[in-house]
Amino acid sequence: AAQPLRHVDSMATMPSGAGKIPYLNAVILGEALASEENDLVYPSDDFSRQAHVPSPQKYLELYERSIKDPGGFWSDVASQFYWKHKWAPDHVYSENLDVRKGPVQIEWFKGGITNICYNCLDRNVESGLGDTVALYWEGNDLANDASLTYSQLLHRVSQLANYLKDIGVRKGDAVIVYLPMLLELPITMLACARIGAVHSVVFAGFSAESLAQRIIDCKPKLVITCNAVKRGPKVIPLKDIVDAALVQSSQTGVSIDTCLVYENALAMKREKTNWQDGRDIWWQDVIPKYPTKCEVEWVDAEDPLFLLYTSGSTGKPKGVLHTTGGYMVYTATTFKYAFDYKPSDIYWCTADCGWITGHSYVTYGPLLNGATCIVFEGAPNYPDSGRCWDIVDKYKVTIFYTAPTLYVTRYSRKSLRILGSVGEPINPSAWRWFYNVVGDSRCPISDTWWQTETGGFMITPLPGAWPQKPGSATFPFFGVQPVIVDEKGVEIEGECSGYLCVKGSWPGAFRTLYGDHERYETTYFKPFAGYYFTGDGCSRQAKLANLHKSMFRDKDGYHWLTGRVDDVINVSGHRIGTAEVESALVSHPKCAEAAVVGVEHEVKGQAIYAFVTLVEGEPYSEELRNSLILAVRKQIGAFAAPDRIHWAPGLPKTRSGKIMRRILRKIASGQLGDLGDTSTLADPNVVQQLIALSNC
Ligand code: WTA
Repeated sequence: AAQPLRHVDSMATMPSGAGKIPYLNAVILGEALASEENDLVYPSDDFSRQAHVPSPQKYLELYERSIKDPGGFWSDVASQFYWKHKWAPDHVYSENLDVRKGPVQIEWFKGGITNICYNCLDRNVESGLGDTVALYWEGNDLANDASLTYSQLLHRVSQLANYLKDIGVRKGDAVIVYLPMLLELPITMLACARIGAVHSVVFAGFSAESLAQRIIDCKPKLVITCNAVKRGPKVIPLKDIVDAALVQSSQTGVSIDTCLVYENALAMKREKTNWQDGRDIWWQDVIPKYPTKCEVEWVDAEDPLFLLYTSGSTGKPKGVLHTTGGYMVYTATTFKYAFDYKPSDIYWCTADCGWITGHSYVTYGPLLNGATCIVFEGAPNYPDSGRCWDIVDKYKVTIFYTAPTLYVTRYSRKSLRILGSVGEPINPSAWRWFYNVVGDSRCPISDTWWQTETGGFMITPLPGAWPQKPGSATFPFFGVQPVIVDEKGVEIEGECSGYLCVKGSWPGAFRTLYGDHERYETTYFKPFAGYYFTGDGCSRQAKLANLHKSMFRDKDGYHWLTGRVDDVINVSGHRIGTAEVESALVSHPKCAEAAVVGVEHEVKGQAIYAFVTLVEGEPYSEELRNSLILAVRKQIGAFAAPDRIHWAPGLPKTRSGKIMRRILRKIASGQLGDLGDTSTLADPNVVQQLIALSNC
């Protein structure tokens, strides 16, 4: 059943955001900035003049066409790619987003035959980019780097693709990829795409349990991994995690006969790697022997490209399924416009390919545009907090796309031209810091709002086209119709706050949840019939004080994302369902019940805060606290470990037994004077008990 929605309570204070500075050092901001929060920030004339979309008028012209004639608009865009056969001109797309009218269904360019790997590589090599660097690799340790031109990348991808075909991987087969940010990660994704196999990348910070769960769900033909990775000063033996996952999956009847292991000798020599003969194969022993040419498998636009598991508010992770054609057109186009991409740019996105940002904006979007892109293996604070700026200077990065969780230092950053932000609401003060300090008040910021499910950017500035408002993701991308609805699902016009939905489909939309179309409909299309429900709250500011009224219609306005309204939290850009953390805690034999909420965190955006009720008679101890945290690390991964365990003799519940998370959120964030109505609780004393244990 659909989850009850959290009341959108942060909105009263918008658009100035939550008021606090969540991630960044307040000192450098100075008070002056705070008072400018509502001001518009105009792009320079020089910037606008060279931009793909130089004015609001130009945007409106394109946007209006994209809404009035989606088929025509996207056909024109799609025609820039290589298609073996084109889709039927009278059938560019078909959609039903309304559960009342039948099953939800979205198709774009069906009947069109293409291949996204071909469009990323062969097409660019043929048009003369063969010797252009496609991917730079910057390792965890300072001395390690590498690069691949478009031709070299094509050869490497083809060799792996030939191997995969050779061992019997066919169109439609799933391949699980558990790799860190080595060049082999995008190589693997592209090789799968080349032969029509469906990659499912699992972020290499997930635990054996989580990996096993994904293997069991999609039953891959093989697993591709590496023996180990260095993360900062630590060596993490990834192959051991895969071994444990494969034991677990075979216990449920999903056995994997092939595990292809890249020897990451910088982290661990092969001699030290645990090995299962017959199943495990060293990448370096086989792949280089294969031919560097590989015919592509031509696929339908609607054939699946990848599965990416993501967290929801209930139950196990969902396999978000993206198909080929629409995703290709959408990621390429959003990349080009939101970053005002030009061939002279050097682009760096700090996201890991284990998440959607790394799929759409490390691998596919940039390569489809023939861009030069950096793949960074390390951590932003290793060996010190200047690492990011080192990299920006080393490669002369012009477009820098990241989650708003970084640190400023002494470096020059002269090369930067555009900054991008993703993953969580960036408040106006943090925005100012990013703009003034990182971008020297020169680089427009693209605060891109989107989701695993949307495939690509949905609400984003087009740098150069219009003035920005610090903290606002501004306006919808071409073809996207965001609507804000109230609790009843009624669209609200003009200046308002509510639940963010999307009307109609766009090419990058996910098509289903793997193996569970019903859950797809229930989660996303039933809460507000007729719309795709994003799970986010949004407020819209329609009065554009300093903008000419005629530029935008009255019902349009700057959009301010206010965070999730369901039980999903974002920790340093990692999306985590509170239900998953709760179920990991409850699996601990001494835990009777758990309730997890997100709280604001200076560095991570949000942190995980867990209320735990122990089994009868169990005393509180630090040891127990640690072992509860360990249970989460083991079941999900270190990135999901709670920052805080709050002992709870009982949890605040309604008489029908529903946990009142609203109250828990307030207690967790120390807003004790403002707990709201507690009269509907089955046992109002619980709240006082929890407050009493706040500092234990
Ligand atoms: C949040 C990441 C505010 C939002 C691309 C969304 C954002 C969730 C922004 C999706 C942004 C992403 N401003 N919030 N610019 N970008 N979010 O699936 O809550 O990992 O629903 O995709 O991140 O997270 P996901």
